[in-house]
Amino acid sequence: MGFVFKDRWALVTGASSGIGKELAEELAHRGTNLVVVARRENLLTDLATNLEKKYGVRAVVHAMDLTAPDAAVALTEFLKEYEVSILVNNAGFAATGPVLDTEWATYRRMLDLNMGFLCELTYRMLPDLKRRDQARILNVGSIAGYQGVSNMVIYSATKAFVNNFTEGLQWELHGSNVAATCLQPGKTESEFFDVAHMRGTRFVKSGVMSARAVARQGIDAMQKGKPSLVTGWMNKISIFGLRLSPRWLVGFTIRNMFREMGR
Ligand SMILES: NC(=O)c1ccc[n+]([C@@H]2O[C@H](COP(=O)([O-])OP(=O)(O)OC[C@H]3O[C@@H](n4cnc5c(N)ncnc54)[C@H](OP(=O)(O)O)[C@@H]3O)[C@@H](O)[C@H]2O)c1
Repeated sequence: MGFVFKDRWALVTGASSGIGKELAEELAHRGTNLVVVARRENLLTDLATNLEKKYGVRAVVHAMDLTAPDAAVALTEFLKEYEVSILVNNAGFAATGPVLDTEWATYRRMLDLNMGFLCELTYRMLPDLKRRDQARILNVGSIAGYQGVSNMVIYSATKAFVNNFTEGLQWELHGSNVAATCLQPGKTESEFFDVAHMRGTRFVKSGVMSARAVARQGIDAMQKGKPSLVTGWMNKISIFGLRLSPRWLVGFTIRNMFREMGR
């Protein structure tokens, strides 16, 4: 029998908008109780109220800044009350533009959130996950992590970390009660485009998936215990092509695709 979501507890980070919000909804739809985390408490409260009413699950709000010192320690402590068996590491953001055009403090937060926090929370929750009958980890990486991306240099590197961290973990946990999946979306409609100042660019005018579709595919992949999932057939074809192409050609093509982000 596959992994059963009903009556389990899941933690979803970055659940106040976009992919995380839809991941929370998809889990609630399958009968999973939730702890939802992000900074904007009002959005989390609206979401939790809506999910409890719509699906009859429990949804607990925990508003916090995941880049705060010892955030992973504090969150793990908070979660002790709940028997979490599904960990969804989704919170993340990007900065675009020439590498020197963004102040270091923003990169510092990006490195902390996209990599440090995700990695530490996984490390701190793993002992508890191993104690469950079955458990799942879903880390949100990106197809941007398959190569270096000019005008998105540091973000793409953080996603390469998430892709590789999850792949290694999946192999290490192979045959155990815990399976790790890396969800690797391409362009997805969410606040991500606003935060990364990509809204209005030609790049995000086509080939954009809905956050709902991405979330549904991600939860299906996690249920099956798949090591990774590139969302959407266009993105799958791109990644397949990328694997067959010389590295210089990939870099050259991506550089042209992201030229307009150079501002
Ligand atoms: N959209 C895309 O095209 C795309 C493509 C590939 C991968 N991804 C990845 O998908 C994930 C979700 O992004 P999204 O597209 O859904 O973007 P989004 O709509 O901007 O959502 C980002 C979420 O992260 C939370 N967050 C940001 N900083 C935080 C902090 N310091 N502490 C706590 N929570 C924080 C935000 O909530 P608050 O602001 O309320 O804190 C929000 O809930 C990210 O890891 C992103 O890298 C996105």
